[in-house]
Amino acid sequence: MYVAVGPGVHYVARPKDMTEGSKHMSRQGEAEWDRLSRTTRRTFCTNVMLTSAGLLLAAPNLSKAVAAQESEVAYPPRRIEGAETLLPGGSLYFNYPSRNDPAVLLRSSDGEYKAYSRRCSHAGCSVDFDPSSRCLKCPCHRGTFDARMGYVMFGPPRRPLDQIVLQMRAGGQLWAVGKNFGREGEVITESSIGGD
Ligand code: FES
Repeated sequence: MYVAVGPGVHYVARPKDMTEGSKHMSRQGEAEWDRLSRTTRRTFCTNVMLTSAGLLLAAPNLSKAVAAQESEVAYPPRRIEGAETLLPGGSLYFNYPSRNDPAVLLRSSDGEYKAYSRRCSHAGCSVDFDPSSRCLKCPCHRGTFDARMGYVMFGPPRRPLDQIVLQMRAGGQLWAVGKNFGREGEVITESSIGGD
C-alpha cells in the first residue's frame, strides 16, 4: 500500500508476499521488489531528506503507530565527545552503549541531532554514512537507511536502525542515554516507483 507523505515521497507497506516469513514470494511481488531496489539511491535519499519534515505532519496515524511500537531502553549515559563542534550536515562516529557498539551522530542542515546504531538490522554489518546522498549504507548487501528516521529504504533489512536516545545538557554537551528499538515492516520509497 502506498500513502503520499510529501512531494515525491510515499510511505510504503511491504507487501505481504515479500515478508521474511513468506515461503512463497509471488513472481509479481519479487519483480516489484527488484524494481524498488533498482531506483537511483542518491536521488531518492536526497528527496527524503528534503521532504521528511512533512512526513509525520502528513501522516499523523503513522506517527502514532511508530510511538506505540517503539521500545526505549536506558543505558548508562555517555557524553559524545566532539558533538558540540559538529557542523550542520556533518557526522561523527562514536560507540554506544559499549565500546563494541558502533554508532553514528548526524546533524541535519537545520541543526537537529540524530544518532543511530551502525549495526545493520539485516545481519549486523556496520553501516556507513554517505554525505553525498545523506543515507546510511550497508556494505554487505546494499541495505540503505534514511538518515532522518533510520527507516529502511532499500535492500534486505526488515526493520529500521536502532536509534540512540540523546540528551542535551548544560554547556551544549550532548549525551547518549539509551536506545530506541525500531519496529518491523516499513520501508519508504519514491513515488515514481510506486506502482500507481
Ligand atoms: S548486513 Fe546490511 S544489508 Fe545485509
